[in-house]
Amino acid sequence: AGTLGAQAAQSGRYFGAAVAAGKLGDGTYTGILDREFNSVTAENEMKWDATEPSRGSFTFSRADQIAQRAQARGQRLRGHTLVWHSQLPGWVNSIRDANTLRGVMNNHITTVMNRYKGRIHSWDVVNEAFADGGSGQMRGSVFRDVLGTGFVEQAFRTARSADPAAKLCYNDYNIENWSDAKTQGVYRMVRDFKSRGVPIDCVGLQAHFGAGGPPGSFQTTLSNFAALGVDVQITELDIAQAPPTAYANTVRACMNVARCTGITVWGIRDSDSWRSGENPLLFDRSGNKKPAYNATLTAMGGT
Ligand code: G3I
Repeated sequence: AGTLGAQAAQSGRYFGAAVAAGKLGDGTYTGILDREFNSVTAENEMKWDATEPSRGSFTFSRADQIAQRAQARGQRLRGHTLVWHSQLPGWVNSIRDANTLRGVMNNHITTVMNRYKGRIHSWDVVNEAFADGGSGQMRGSVFRDVLGTGFVEQAFRTARSADPAAKLCYNDYNIENWSDAKTQGVYRMVRDFKSRGVPIDCVGLQAHFGAGGPPGSFQTTLSNFAALGVDVQITELDIAQAPPTAYANTVRACMNVARCTGITVWGIRDSDSWRSGENPLLFDRSGNKKPAYNATLTAMGGT
C-alpha cells in the first residue's frame, strides 16, 4: 500500500499520529492526517488538566472534537492519559489524605473512560511512573507519596471495570534499552502484575529518540515484554533530525515482534512537534514527505 496506515493494516497493525485539537482547522494538517493515519492520540486534550481542571467538573469539548472527528473517518483512537504526575491540576497535587486521593483518582479514571467507553482501542492508564537513572524504582509524585506504589495497581483495576474492551497500557519513555535500570523496573512491575492477575494488556514505549535512533537492544526489549503476555506499542515516536535509517530500524523492530500491534508518531509535521527545533517527524513544515517517510513505509513493506 502507499500510505502508512494502509500498509500497517496489512499486518493487522495501526499507524497513528498525535493530534492537537487547535490544528484541526488547518487543511494541510488534516489532509495528511486523513490520508496517512488510521489511529489518533490526543496530544494534550485527554490529560487531567484538560479534562478535570477543578474537582468533579469535567470538560470534554476539545477531546470530543478529536474523538468525533476520528470516529467519523474510521480512524481508531488511543487514550492518553489517565494518571500522570505532569499536567496535573494543582488541586490534585495538594491532596494529602489517602482516602481522598484514591477516591479522586478512581473517579477521574471512571469518568473519563466512561465518556469514551468502547471507542478507545488502548488507554495509557498510568504514564511515566518510573524514575530516571539507576534506581529502577517509581518516581516521587503525589500518587506514590500519598498512596504508595500500589496506586498503579489500583488505577489498572479501576480502569478494567470502567471499560473492559480497552487494552490497558503502562506507558513510559527511556524504557527502550533492555539493560537500563528503568526498563528493568517496569519489566518487574509488569511481570508481577501478570503473575498476580492484575489487569494489564500492554506496554507503551514512547520512543523519543536521539539522532542515533533506537538502542541496539530495542527489538529484544519489545520481545521480552511481549513474552510476559502483553502487547507492546510504540506510542510517541520521534527521532532528532529524522534519519531514515533510524526510523527504519525502529519500525522494523516492531514488525519483527508479533505482539507489537502499532506505532504512533508524536505529531505530523516538524512544526507540530514538541521538539520542533530537532525536525524529528516524517513531514516537513510545508507538509511534504521527508526521506524518513519513505524509509518508514518501506520498512513496513510498502512502496
Ligand atoms: O494550552 C496552553 C495555553 O493556554 C497557554 O497559553 C500556553 C502557554 O505556554 O500553553 C498551553 O499549554 C501547553 C500545552 O502543551 C498545549 O499546547 C503547555 O504549556 C505545554 O507544556 C504542553 O506541552 C505538552 C507536553 O506534553 C506537556 O508535558 C506537549 O504539547 C506534548 O507534546 C507533550 O507530550 C508528552 C506526552 O504527553 C507524554 N510523554 C512525553 C511527551 C513529550 O513531552
